[in-house]
This record gives sequence, C-alpha cells and structure tokens, in this order.
Amino acid sequence: MDWYAKHYLKSLELQNEALQRAFRKELEFLAQHCVGKLKILEVGSGNGRVIEGISDRLMELEPKKRPHVFIGVDINQELVDLATKEQVRRSLGYYSDDFIQDSSRRRPYGAVHFFCMDGRMVGRDFAEERFNVSFTAYNTLGAIEDIGSVVDAMAYVTRPEGEIINLVWSTEPETTKFLEGYYPALGFKIEELHPEKTILRDEAGEAHVINRPPVRDLVQAYLAAGIRDFSVSNVGRLYTCIVGKKPERG
Ligand SMILES: C[S@@+](CC[C@H](N)C(=O)[O-])C[C@H]1O[C@@H](n2cnc3c(N)ncnc32)[C@H](O)[C@@H]1O
Repeated sequence: MDWYAKHYLKSLELQNEALQRAFRKELEFLAQHCVGKLKILEVGSGNGRVIEGISDRLMELEPKKRPHVFIGVDINQELVDLATKEQVRRSLGYYSDDFIQDSSRRRPYGAVHFFCMDGRMVGRDFAEERFNVSFTAYNTLGAIEDIGSVVDAMAYVTRPEGEIINLVWSTEPETTKFLEGYYPALGFKIEELHPEKTILRDEAGEAHVINRPPVRDLVQAYLAAGIRDFSVSNVGRLYTCIVGKKPERG
C-alpha cells in the first residue's frame, strides 16, 4: 500500500474529536446536497466511508425513499478493494435472516459500485451528463496536482443543473493549527507548514507534499470548466467548500 493510502487509513483509525466533528459536518453537508438525487459520484472514494455515510443519512432524510446509484472512483486499487469488500459485507447483511425479520433495517433501494480509476479520467469511462451530483471530500483535491483536470472531468460527467462539490482543508489559521497536531500523530515530521502547502517527511525519510487548494485556485478551476454559478463557504471549522451548478445546455 502506498504511503498516502497508509496515512489515510491511519487517520481514520486515530480520529480525534476535531476530525470527528469535521467529518460529521462534511457528511451532513454532502447528504443534504444528495437528497432526491439519483446518481452520485465521489472522486477519491477511499475506503468508501463517505458514500456509506451519505447513503445511511439519506435513509433518514428522505421521507419518501428514492433509489440512489453511488459510484466511487479511486486511483488506489487496494482502497477500492477495501471499499468493495465492505460494501458486499453490508449488502449481505441486508439480505440476511436478520434483515428479513427486521424491517427497520430494510434498504430496498440503491446500488453502490467502486472502480479503480484516476479521477481526471472519469469522462473517459462514464458518459457525459451521467451524474446529478459529483463531489470530492476530505481534501482529496489536495492530493492531486492538477485540480483543473479533476474539476473539468467532474463537470463533464455531471448533468445540466447538477452540482459539482469539492471540500478541501481551509487555508485558515485554525486548520493550520489542527494540522500541526494531525500529521505528527500519523507519524510524519512536518518540514514546512504553509497555508496552501505542507511538506512532510515519513518514517523512512521520504518527503511528501500535500496541498490545501486556496479559494482562488478552486474558483479558477470552476471557471475554466465553464461553471459560472458557484458559491464558496466554510463547512465546520476546518473545511472550505465550493459548490457549483453545471450550466444548462446551449
Ligand atoms: C484523503 S483521501 C479521502 C478518501 C475518502 N473520500 C474519505 O473521505 O474517506 C483521498 C483519496 O483520493 C484518492 N486519490 C488521490 N489521487 C487520485 C486521483 N487522481 N484520482 C482518484 N483518486 C485519487 C486517494 O487514493 C485517496 O483514497
């Protein structure tokens, strides 16, 4: 498993209170945007925890249950395998004897699939205008050099009037302070910690860069992808979020 996937999984294991709070806010924000939406794409889906969380929350949020199709894509095959394994385990649970007895756990709708794919390439493998919502979470954009290509690909596969959502670490001092404790807890030595970029050294002495894409880069990527209708906000205390609407055709 590569250094990034290892650090990501460890971060989920270690979750301190601030991270748990940030995850709760992020999940709620995303779930609210997915209410009533049929096809949902996550780029950089990791072990599948965000899709799982949204899907669970939608069970509560939608009085009239609607089917959803969730697609998660991730560049790391091991994480895709983990997400798929967990998904299969959960699906089997729903169809076990317990499930049949216990109607409160019934989930008679929806489908979830994970694929190993570079997020910048989703437009090659998925049809144009396929998804109602496409999103990234947990600073996924900060791990990808060329955020313009990701946003462009997300916009391509999103339907007119659909939403393109990206949540990244904010460049605010509060997030910087949080990261000062977060990275060492994961076993990294912080070499440099700037608002827009962190340089880390792992236990083997190798250096790694993780970005915090600033608002101006997010805005530039959205404009370049033809998205003019967008808003930027804070989600919780650690995230900046940009939500854009795919323009209507013509
Ligand atoms: C911080 S993790 C977030 C995972 C998941 N969204 C979550 O919140 O638990 C970022 C994920 O993006 C994936 N990733 C990095 N570059 C990618 C790319 N170019 N295309 C698709 N996924 C990528 C990583 O493998 C990792 O799983």
